[in-house]
Amino acid sequence: MKTLIVYCSNHGFSEKCANILKEKLGDNTDLANLKSKKVEGMDEYDTIIIGGSIHAGKIQKQLKQFLSQNENFLMSKKIGLYLCCADHEKYDAYFESEIPQSILNNAFIKVHLGHAYYMDKLNFMFKAMIKKFANIEESQEKIRYDQMDLLLDKINSNN
Ligand SMILES: Cc1cc2nc3c(=O)[nH]c(=O)nc-3n(C[C@H](O)[C@H](O)[C@H](O)COP(=O)(O)O)c2cc1C
Repeated sequence: MKTLIVYCSNHGFSEKCANILKEKLGDNTDLANLKSKKVEGMDEYDTIIIGGSIHAGKIQKQLKQFLSQNENFLMSKKIGLYLCCADHEKYDAYFESEIPQSILNNAFIKVHLGHAYYMDKLNFMFKAMIKKFANIEESQEKIRYDQMDLLLDKINSNN
């Protein structure tokens, strides 16, 4: 049984989560970065995990486009979803506002994998915003391993 992890990441955290998932799932898992290439050959996968992050209340435009262009196709697959965002109380609301309802309904799991601020990767304007609105000056990384384990268990039991 093959799994594809399709992800979109602005500053590397969602990508790190995708890499950890791939490592834990083993050989039958591939990665597709929506920022670097068009996703092809999805037919050969039984399970598709889709992940991204929230910036100014929204998922990345590449992820939004991928979801809308493949909405019908994704109905025929087992799909799991993950989001990364700093506001841990809002992630349910972000799923509802950012992911098409049909995809949410078809997903066997939706998880919040935490967030990171990598200060060295932010430009001056974003750094200033994070300092002002989140009161954060140093890089931080909070991976929700409990949620990651839930996702991994579900993928393994589905396959
Ligand atoms: C400029 C900027 C805007 C952000 N806006 C939000 C937001 O509106 N809501 C939220 O919960 N998190 C927000 N975050 C936190 C990101 O979702 C978090 O840093 C996430 O881990 C980014 O993942 P990525 O590195 O894969 O892009 C923001 C982060 C940055 C840098």
